[in-house]
Amino acid sequence: MARLIDSGPGCPTPTPLRAANAAEARGLEYTEEVKAATDELYPLVEDFITPMEWPAVAPLVHEINRLKHEKNAVVLAHNYMTPDIFRLVGDFRGDSLQLAREAAETGAGTIVQAGVHFMAETSKILAPEKTVLIPDLEAGCSLAASITGEDVRLIKQRYPDYPVVTYVNTTADVKAECHITCTSSNASQVVEHVAREWDSDTVILVPDQYLAKNVAAQTDIRILTWPGACEVHELFNAEDVAALREAHPGVMILAHPECPPDVLEAADFAGSTSALAGYVGDNHPSKVVLLTECSMSDNVAAENPDVDFVRPCNLCPHMKRITLENIHDSLVEMKHEVTIEEDVRIRAKQAIDAMLALPKLEKPAAFETGLEPLDIELVETA
Ligand code: 13P
Ligand code: SF4
Repeated sequence: MARLIDSGPGCPTPTPLRAANAAEARGLEYTEEVKAATDELYPLVEDFITPMEWPAVAPLVHEINRLKHEKNAVVLAHNYMTPDIFRLVGDFRGDSLQLAREAAETGAGTIVQAGVHFMAETSKILAPEKTVLIPDLEAGCSLAASITGEDVRLIKQRYPDYPVVTYVNTTADVKAECHITCTSSNASQVVEHVAREWDSDTVILVPDQYLAKNVAAQTDIRILTWPGACEVHELFNAEDVAALREAHPGVMILAHPECPPDVLEAADFAGSTSALAGYVGDNHPSKVVLLTECSMSDNVAAENPDVDFVRPCNLCPHMKRITLENIHDSLVEMKHEVTIEEDVRIRAKQAIDAMLALPKLEKPAAFETGLEPLDIELVETA
């Protein structure tokens, strides 16, 4: 329960001392030129970085933005990046689906993925001619680690008549074995589409058991799933929601669909990271809590200064591996390049393309809240 203590803004933002050391180690100084070029950026992060601390951070930011220009590179920043990355060096920001679309469309020759490895793979799958860099190769995901391509081959052998949908939080190998991908912005749309296409009353949705249960509650389609979970979202539970309501009467509770179903049952609104941000931007609730990764509240709060945020802090240790320092080094040394075997890439692209070919939703689909959790079956592979 300690994690539900309001952590206040900027809890995971890098310490200025670390930033100062990092800038110095890279021969970067807060010169007059750097000051002039970065002064206008400071207001974007003034809630997270004090004026005294700014001279330690600004040289790295300035150099990253210079390198991007020199190398025709863009930084695709997921909503879970810390505000220094998200607001100061991210050229395009959003949820997994938005970042995937942007990777396919950007005119830049190099993509630096400020997110986790499966997101960088998705960029490479969609944009093979571009150089895709991930600043830290260890930036993984508990969902992506929970299932392999071989697991999906066994599932398909066991259930040849059912379409297999994979959440995008998976490796290219897994995507290559599945019929279509989905994200938290379009999971119900994808499941219903593929059920119609296969004329099947059952769809297999892997690897997130909670996302699958949450989708199952929204549709009449029978869903089978896999015992994967997001290590960040699985920590939330219905007691947390009750405790938040008691501590903050009138608070609006918004949850990501990777949370267990009892959380969505008790929440006021649920959806992908962009759906949550969109809800706050559209409705301006006086007090809100986002049951998702910690930095998300910082980033949404910065866009909505009139909204009071309660900030429980569950960090994604993988997302937090990405820092200004390693984004800088990634651009200098053009590392770590993400590569995918061409036959795997082509098959994985088919699964992503099948998703991208669906009618573009006007906004990310929300999950209905207040629905009774459903027990759904896990697939058998033996
Ligand atoms: P979104 O697609 O909602 O941004 O989710 C990505 C993710 O990793 C959530 O944990
Ligand atoms: Fe994976 Fe969860 Fe981290 Fe998202 S928040 S990258 S699903 S571990």
